[in-house]
Order: sequence, then structure tokens, then C-alpha cells
Amino acid sequence: MDLHQKILELKKKKNAVILAHYYQVPEIQDVADYVGDSLGLSQKAAETDADIIVFAGVHFMAETAKILNPNKKVLLPDLMAGCSLADSCPADAFQKLVEAHPDHTVITYVNCSAEVKALSDIICTSSNAEKIVNSIPKDVPIIFAPDKNLGKYIQKKTGRKMLLWDGACIVHEAFSIDKLLKLYKEHPGSKIIAHPESESHILETATYIGSTAGMIDYVKKHPSEKFIVATEAGILHKMQQEVPQAILIPAPAEEDNTCACSECAFMKMNTLQKLYNCLLNETPQIEVSEVIRKKAILPIERMLELSK
Ligand code: 13P
Ligand code: SF4
Repeated sequence: MDLHQKILELKKKKNAVILAHYYQVPEIQDVADYVGDSLGLSQKAAETDADIIVFAGVHFMAETAKILNPNKKVLLPDLMAGCSLADSCPADAFQKLVEAHPDHTVITYVNCSAEVKALSDIICTSSNAEKIVNSIPKDVPIIFAPDKNLGKYIQKKTGRKMLLWDGACIVHEAFSIDKLLKLYKEHPGSKIIAHPESESHILETATYIGSTAGMIDYVKKHPSEKFIVATEAGILHKMQQEVPQAILIPAPAEEDNTCACSECAFMKMNTLQKLYNCLLNETPQIEVSEVIRKKAILPIERMLELSK
């Protein structure tokens, strides 16, 4: 029996669900029950009746699932699968900023630790950030953390001035504007689509800006066109499955002379073998202290409520 089949059987026997992010390797996406963006994955995690959640993504995503499901086992195939953006916002430093601005509403992007969520008023993802910011009364000042690129983009969209945390995603900051413009010239008529974690000079070239799920939806609406895709290259797998006739070209990264694309080393730590092992042995498990969990669940629930 191959690994894919073994995982499916084990999953059924243990009443487990496999949730995977679009940046996972293709063989993990193909075995998952649901593949989605950060918002879709938290919504699925909130509604599942499985006993075990295998989260094929990075640590903050699995942690969010655990916060929502304290009585379920939440497994992450590789516990070292972190996130540069989450790491750019240590909870103790963030607490100082929050305490120095008691009149501010604290909006944090889901890419952060449970401790940072516990210090927040409301969580957002790239697919609902604009809506969440707009839900805060105009006269209330906002702290937005940890992604300064998403923050700048949302400031521009909403006209709200926000106090931005100086964090970023190493993958989305790696795109090269010179190489991108050169590639665009080589493919006249193509459309550049970009994730809002990218820097503003990249976003300025884009016809469409949105979350990973938003980018896939956009390509679905324009099935026979050519796209230069500025986000992590794992998205190309599902995008191409959904829209086989579209021509998809990964946006080039500055330092990349091998695959000409951007890959998240954290996302790629999970493999099909590790996924099988973690389901078989029910380890490594995600744990969140009850003190932090009780605080962190409130801003997550506020986001889920506003995203219905
Ligand atoms: P979304 O899937 O919500 O667009 O987020 C992208 C990302 O970088 C996740 O780490
Ligand atoms: Fe974090 Fe960036 Fe990797 Fe997403 S792509 S998990 S934001 S490092």
C-alpha cells in the first residue's frame, strides 16, 4: 500500500481530518480533506467534529486550531515549521507597545503566536483584513501587527492611519521587482497577481491583490489567461488543478537562480512521510496553556463572527 492510501485508511480509523495550506507540497495537498487559506482553515478547524486534526501548515495555524479545539488532538507533522512573520513579533515586546497605547484597538494578523493573539482585540487574515479594519469606528486609533506590508496595503485601501508593527514575511519580501518587470516584458498580456504580504513596489504592478484563496478565485474567473503569481510557489499546484488551461508563471525571487520561484522553507518542512508518522503516533501535538488560550480565543472568535 502506498503512503497516500495508508494515510487515508489511518485517518478513517482514527476519525481524523487533514487540513492543509496551499503552500504545502503537492502530495500533502492531494491527501488533505480541505486545502485552503488561513481564514478557510480556521473556519474548518472551528466546525470540525473529527477527534484529531492533522494540521499540514505552520505552527501558528495549528495553534489557532488548538485554541478553537482544546479537547481535540491537534497534530503538526513537523513542530519546527514556524513562520518568519510570527517570529518578528515577540510577545514581550508587543505587550510593551500595547500597554503604551491603551486607547488603541489591537488588530493582529493571524500569523502570530498564541501569546500575541492573547494581547489582541481582533484577529484578521489577508482575506478579511480590510473588513476587520473598517469594522472599527473611525475615531478609534488602531495598532496593526505584525505584517507591515499588509498593514501599509490596508492603510491605503481604508484610508486609516495605523500604528504598524515592523514585521514581514521573508518569502514575500524576496520577490525582485527588476526580475518581475523583465519577466512581465517577456510575457506581454500576462496579469500579475500578488499576495498583500509582498512589498508595495510589487503590489503596485499587480492587477489583483488578495489572499491565496482570493488569488485562486481570480484565476478561476479568467481561466484562459496568463498569470505571473507573486506568492509562495506551492499555490501553483491547486491553482493549476482548478484551472488547467491557465498559464501560470511563478514570480521570481531576488536570490533565486535555481527554481525561479519563492518557497517557504517552514511550510516545506512537512512531508507526506512526516504526516503519516504523526497520524500513526499521534505526535507531535500542539499544546496551548489554558490561561493564554482563554484570552487568545476571544479575538479569533470576533474575527470568525465578522467573517460569516
Ligand atoms: P493566506 O493563505 O491567508 O493568504 O496567508 C498566506 C500566508 O503567508 C500564510 O502563511
Ligand atoms: Fe510565514 Fe511567510 Fe512562510 Fe507564510 S510564507 S508561513 S508568512 S514565512
